[in-house]
Amino acid sequence: MANRSQVAAIASPTWTSSVTGSFHSLVALLVAVLVVSALFLSRDQPLLGSPTPTAPTRQCDLFSGRWVYDNVSYPLYKEKQCRYMSREIACEAYGRKDLKYQQWRWQPHGCDLPRFNATALLEKLRNKRLVYVGDSLNRGQWHSMVCMVEAAIPPALKSMSDRHNASLRIFKAHEYNATIEFYWAPLLVETNCDDPKNHSIYHRIVRVRAIENHAKHWHDADFLIFNTYLWWRLPEMELLAGEWGGIPGGSCYGETELITREGYWGTGSVLSMMRVVERVVKKLEARGITIHILNITQLSEYRKEAHPTIHRKHWHPLTKEQLANPVSYADCFHWCLPGLQDVWNELLYTYIFHILDA
Ligand SMILES: *[C@@H]1O[C@H](CO)[C@@H](O)[C@H](O)[C@H]1NC(C)=O
Ligand SMILES: *[C@@H]1O[C@H](CO)[C@@H](O)[C@H](O)[C@H]1NC(C)=O
Ligand SMILES: *[C@@H]1O[C@H](CO)[C@@H](O)[C@H](O)[C@H]1NC(C)=O
Ligand SMILES: *[C@@H]1O[C@H](CO)[C@@H](O)[C@H](O)[C@H]1NC(C)=O
Ligand SMILES: *[C@@H]1O[C@H](CO)[C@@H](O)[C@H](O)[C@H]1NC(C)=O
Ligand SMILES: *[C@@H]1O[C@H](CO)[C@@H](O)[C@H](O)[C@H]1NC(C)=O
Repeated sequence: MANRSQVAAIASPTWTSSVTGSFHSLVALLVAVLVVSALFLSRDQPLLGSPTPTAPTRQCDLFSGRWVYDNVSYPLYKEKQCRYMSREIACEAYGRKDLKYQQWRWQPHGCDLPRFNATALLEKLRNKRLVYVGDSLNRGQWHSMVCMVEAAIPPALKSMSDRHNASLRIFKAHEYNATIEFYWAPLLVETNCDDPKNHSIYHRIVRVRAIENHAKHWHDADFLIFNTYLWWRLPEMELLAGEWGGIPGGSCYGETELITREGYWGTGSVLSMMRVVERVVKKLEARGITIHILNITQLSEYRKEAHPTIHRKHWHPLTKEQLANPVSYADCFHWCLPGLQDVWNELLYTYIFHILDA
């Protein structure tokens, strides 16, 4: 386990200024976190899949595998019982009737994922901060983690609070002095969409060099999870809407089955971006910054049935035209909870216990 000083070396002002010093490298860094969840942590850990792994899980490619229907172990928690559930992704509460999307286990080809144990994680997080930074997609992963953990904590020993005009939301497990936080910074750097409650996505202005104002809220985090794929891709979205499991012109609306064809890639996942990710990670490694990539892109691609579609809170009243054409307002970007993002967190858990500790 990395200690605080190692983490500080990564997310300190030195880090931000060395990154912001170069326009191109920052843009590249931001591209890097588009596609993956990256875990910034200790300096000396090799990336998963790199040579000379020692622990069994290091040899196992956690991200190459298949989905297995498992209604015994899943869901990991009940939507209604999670008191911190988000209305944007509580699909069952908003009328979704087919619930199989809650019951899929990720089975890597070479090993089994360990069972998630909330108490063990809380012990690991004692006196620590686990911080998710990003947009509503990453907020979903944060909600997922909070739901996975909160059931193990009695009501009097947990709390949720907001800071900095709700830019920072903090779930705290008091007995452990552990926090699981979400910081709203959809593009990581400063933009005109940094108000978590009022962020127009049109006419976006991005200050690519300005990260310090945000980073000061997370620079001493023990674990930092970035993932901001969606917003950077928005201008391209029109182009991308065309394909859902190979059905041109389709939508995720009405999908109840996942894709079983192994190796499937939708056109929404641009593999050339992956190459950019790999290059940037190498460059940062050369500077002594280690980034762990949880490469969840492909395993998520299979899950075309796991989006909220129309089953979520809509913040604006729907028009007659929309109601007549559900495809037009189906949400195919976020993910229902319980669901896929719980598995992202199980992978993170595996990383924290079996990769970083090994
Ligand atoms: C799990 O699924 C199987 C097969 O679909 C079904 O027979 C069984 O009743 C289900 N069990 C639960 C607990 O839902
Ligand atoms: C979960 O972890 C705690 C703390 O490490 C341990 O005491 C407990 O036995 C674990 N529970 C299960 C079901 O493995
Ligand atoms: C609680 O955790 C924070 C880090 O999140 C740490 O700075 C603080 O010292 C801890 N408090 C105690 C009493 O250990
Ligand atoms: C919070 O929002 C209010 C109103 O939008 C604004 O006046 C204030 O400066 C903000 N405070 C912080 C700490 O950002
Ligand atoms: C939202 O922000 C825009 C511009 O940033 C502003 O014009 C508008 O008044 C804000 N709306 C609310 C409800 O605060
Ligand atoms: C992620 O995994 C896919 C295969 O599933 C691979 O093609 C891609 O290069 C990987 N990306 C990174 C950044 O490791």
